[in-house]
Amino acid sequence: MAREKLRLAVLISGGGSNLAAIARACAQGQIDAQIVHVIADRGTAGGIELAKSMGLPTTLLEFSRYPSREDHERAIIATIEESDAQLVVLAGYMRVLSAAFVSKFLGRLLNVHPSLLPKYKGLHTHRRVLEAGEREHGASVHFVSVDLDGGPIICQARVPVLPGDTEQTLAARVLTREHRIYPKVVGLIAAGRVRLHGDRVLLDGQPLAIPLNDNDSPMMPQQRHA
Ligand code: GRF
Repeated sequence: MAREKLRLAVLISGGGSNLAAIARACAQGQIDAQIVHVIADRGTAGGIELAKSMGLPTTLLEFSRYPSREDHERAIIATIEESDAQLVVLAGYMRVLSAAFVSKFLGRLLNVHPSLLPKYKGLHTHRRVLEAGEREHGASVHFVSVDLDGGPIICQARVPVLPGDTEQTLAARVLTREHRIYPKVVGLIAAGRVRLHGDRVLLDGQPLAIPLNDNDSPMMPQQRHA
């Protein structure tokens, strides 16, 4: 009997390029998942048009129309639950979620962050990396925890910082790799191979000692230690 595709709710605030990458991977059958709802927190999110152009159910929950963050999150939760989503994917979502929200979706809530966590948590990572003179940068996909940008890391992609790089050139290089690791992680979760256990990531039941990377074939994950 064909396995039910994992049902995804994707939250966006911006252009939605990660949304598009995941949607493409779903459409091409690369990952056993389907996007059942896209939620945007601002009307300026370019990703809304993208989502609609892909025929994805889309809801704008404009933050400024809610009296409080709690009310806004209640609306998000209701939309997620109505869509019967099993995994919540933050894709360029720029709002900090409350501990109550994170706790409710613990283990079913992912984020992509444009840095090699735990380095460069927070905003303006490309600028900070350039200012620090780093030679390497990258992106991380992690389970969201109540520690902002601090949840258990599942997969990372590394890129070189090149002479003459600007924030824009570096951001573009990182974004390209986000589009590889995010669908890969969603696919591993959809296949039941990756899950959160306490504060550890399990791959095929074994704790990940180091994050996967985008060259890794998950069939042959790196050395794992207990
Ligand atoms: C990406 O750099 C992502 O890491 C960050 O938001 C940026 C835009 O993402 N969280 P998207 O193009 O809206 O997916």
